[in-house]
Amino acid sequence: HFEGQDSVWLFGYGSIIFKADFPFIERRPAHIVGWARRFWQGSHDHRGTAEAPGRVVTLVPQAGATCCGMAYLITPEVFAHLDHREKNGYLRLVTDIHFGDAEKAEGLIYIASEENAAFAGPASEKEIARQIFRAAGPSGRNSEYLLLLAQALRELGTDDAHVFEIEKHLLQLEREAAAEHQTAGGNGA
Ligand code: BEZ
Repeated sequence: HFEGQDSVWLFGYGSIIFKADFPFIERRPAHIVGWARRFWQGSHDHRGTAEAPGRVVTLVPQAGATCCGMAYLITPEVFAHLDHREKNGYLRLVTDIHFGDAEKAEGLIYIASEENAAFAGPASEKEIARQIFRAAGPSGRNSEYLLLLAQALRELGTDDAHVFEIEKHLLQLEREAAAEHQTAGGNGA
């Protein structure tokens, strides 16, 4: 699709917002239309294990929805590298990337659709928070991923009810665990 171009926009909506560990020419806050960010992709290799898989975000089609994130202008070589890294169920799609109200460019997104083996699918925000609370993998705790994403979305000034609701439940679970730990310590356990 982008043959002959020396740079392409990639729209980041997950960990790429807060951790771009690849070279880029430029980055800009951006949004895409018709997609919603959801913690519906299972992670048994990064933020969880086979026994206790975590959850990370993917995009699901939703008419009228807007998803805010960060767009990166990168070279085709960087794509080759990302393709390799993100192969765990993610597909590359071409979509319009909007910069504010008046500017747009064609670019790429990675999505994990329901056809991939690691797809976890819908669950309540509370259930998702419980699963995230328990999970950790080679890339770190699943809760760290959620909290960094929520923080990055706040910094972008974007309202994402799904992510912020999961964050609220996760923080509650962490408070309960800390209180339980203190009680156990107080009893000399
Ligand atoms: C992202 O952070 O936008 C992203 C999500 C899944 C795969 C690659 C990138």
